[in-house]
Amino acid sequence: MAVKEKIGRNDPCWCGSGKKYKQCHEAFDDKIKMAKDFGHIVPGHELIKTPAQIEKIKESCKVNIAVLDYVGEHIKAGMTTEEIDRMVYEKTTEMGAIPAPLNYEGFPKSVCTSINEEVCHGIPSEDIVLKDGDIINVDCSTILNGYFSDSSRMYMIGNVSEDKQKLVCVTKEAVEKGLAEVKPWGYMGDMSQAVHDHAAANGYTVVREIGGHGVGLEFHEEPWVGYNGKRGTGMLLVPGMIFTIEPMVNMGKQPIYIDDDNGWTVYTEDGLPSAQWEIMVLVTETGHEVLCY
Ligand code: MF3
Ligand code: CO
Repeated sequence: MAVKEKIGRNDPCWCGSGKKYKQCHEAFDDKIKMAKDFGHIVPGHELIKTPAQIEKIKESCKVNIAVLDYVGEHIKAGMTTEEIDRMVYEKTTEMGAIPAPLNYEGFPKSVCTSINEEVCHGIPSEDIVLKDGDIINVDCSTILNGYFSDSSRMYMIGNVSEDKQKLVCVTKEAVEKGLAEVKPWGYMGDMSQAVHDHAAANGYTVVREIGGHGVGLEFHEEPWVGYNGKRGTGMLLVPGMIFTIEPMVNMGKQPIYIDDDNGWTVYTEDGLPSAQWEIMVLVTETGHEVLCY
């Protein structure tokens, strides 16, 4: 077992700023240690992005946003989800980036397209045609110069029923309620509870098994981001952390199942619709910054 040397106060800081530790992250580390001593889960240094990394991640986010905007301009009834996949592939590569889902753990396409009762991880196909009244989540993830971004939006196709429109709106509001809770030296559970409570107050349920994640240097990093945590619990949030907020909200009951045939697509057990929005958020010194929406 290797014993890690304690960093000297006059040594260079671990963050790479070139400053002495005592003039850089020492007080920050002390604050984290105090939370840890009180029994909280705290982030390791590997989850704290440097300003240079944040700049690179933001460039990746710009591509992700542009791709989702492009999809939004063209998506319509009669289009297949395969066509959405092609748009995502073309726009992403045209901007010098790579779609992160492609070949990720065997995923066969460039984007996830999940319609109505599909909760997430829908696989684009020539056989799936968008029709009037559908709601669809397009979940886009980008690698640019080795840096990852990830966000998703709902699109409503033609005339969507009021109850589905409400589901889509409430899910977006839930993300925003959660986002409002993201601040340095707060807890992940502050966000989780706000998301959950808003969905529940509208009579909906939130999927438990699938959540958000740290992101930036990898597609999926620690921490896991669920929506059943309670205020004041879960990982301590500190400046430099980046993670997604991406609740899947079901109109009906909470249970879900995975497609036996393709091993990916997740559906609601009761067949009622599900909606999801995904954003990427940076914890800053004063609050938060949305990197991708
Ligand atoms: N984009 C999804 C997320 O939000 C992950 C999809 S994995 C894939 O985390 F392989 F299906 F693309
Ligand atoms: Co994600």
